[in-house]
Amino acid sequence: MKSFLSIQDVSNLPALLKDALEIKKNPHLYAKLGQQKSMCLIFLNPSLRTRLSAQKAAFNLGLSTAVLDVGSQGWQLEFGDGIIMDSDKAEHIKEAAAVIGSYFDVVAIRAFAKLEDRNEDYSEQVMESFKKYCPVPIINMESGTGHPLQAFADLITIEENKMVAKPKVVLTWAPHPKPLPQAVANSFCRWIQAANFDLTITHPKGYELVDEAVGKATVVYNQQNALDGADFVYAKNWSSYTNYGKVLSKDPDWMVTQEKMNLTNQGKFMHCLPVRRNVIVEDAVLDSDQSLVIPQATNRVISMQTVLKNILEEMKK
Ligand code: CP
Repeated sequence: MKSFLSIQDVSNLPALLKDALEIKKNPHLYAKLGQQKSMCLIFLNPSLRTRLSAQKAAFNLGLSTAVLDVGSQGWQLEFGDGIIMDSDKAEHIKEAAAVIGSYFDVVAIRAFAKLEDRNEDYSEQVMESFKKYCPVPIINMESGTGHPLQAFADLITIEENKMVAKPKVVLTWAPHPKPLPQAVANSFCRWIQAANFDLTITHPKGYELVDEAVGKATVVYNQQNALDGADFVYAKNWSSYTNYGKVLSKDPDWMVTQEKMNLTNQGKFMHCLPVRRNVIVEDAVLDSDQSLVIPQATNRVISMQTVLKNILEEMKK
């Protein structure tokens, strides 16, 4: 693996999953792989899990890390070509990415969708610019359209907890007070289908995801019908893709409740975190044995460590 921007960078998903499960059993198996190498974690947006799991994963591989919070510590970055830089953005990505790439062996970036202009977010300008101007491997820590490290951790968690070879996985939209990106939902759909699981997506009308993410999944507008017989229920809010970035509904009837979980096949509850209790999902579900949210977050270390292991091995070739 040269870089990790999306599932398209994964040439063999079963082999990557096998690697992850091996690393989970023995996290220090490759403790010397990253020695004398370093990674820069660049955050244009806040994080708890991604920031700490990336540092822990690097530590387990002997890799040093540095963190740059662009908002509070770095110069504001300009990404446009041919721009007259007379606003508040002091540094162009051309110089910033080249300089960072000259200091580090791997660069990981978090840059959320701005939810103002769909074409801009879906062009992945930030990731693509780093890919173009940074001379070392790039890792996506959540971009405008995807969160592949999260989706990989979710897949590891399902693999560890599934009771049948092809579980029924339901992605359900849930209400949220603020507009959120589609990145987590997009990646979850892609990875679950790449793993050949049975995916149903449920949401109110107007919240259809981009066609490439929906793929061959079943879309059901009635949440209770969708949950029938589910082995895994993944709740997530996202803003509208068609009416881009807009909150079209805050309907509390879409919250995941214990009553709804009773419709499932003793299904497990999943969410990427952070989660708004009693808005997205009620306490009773989150605090029950059915909840996998902590194992999912724990597996964020494994997903990053597996990706880093593959990138470091490729660098040694
Ligand atoms: N799920 C996730 O990416 O969490 P953070 O935003 O806290 O990193």
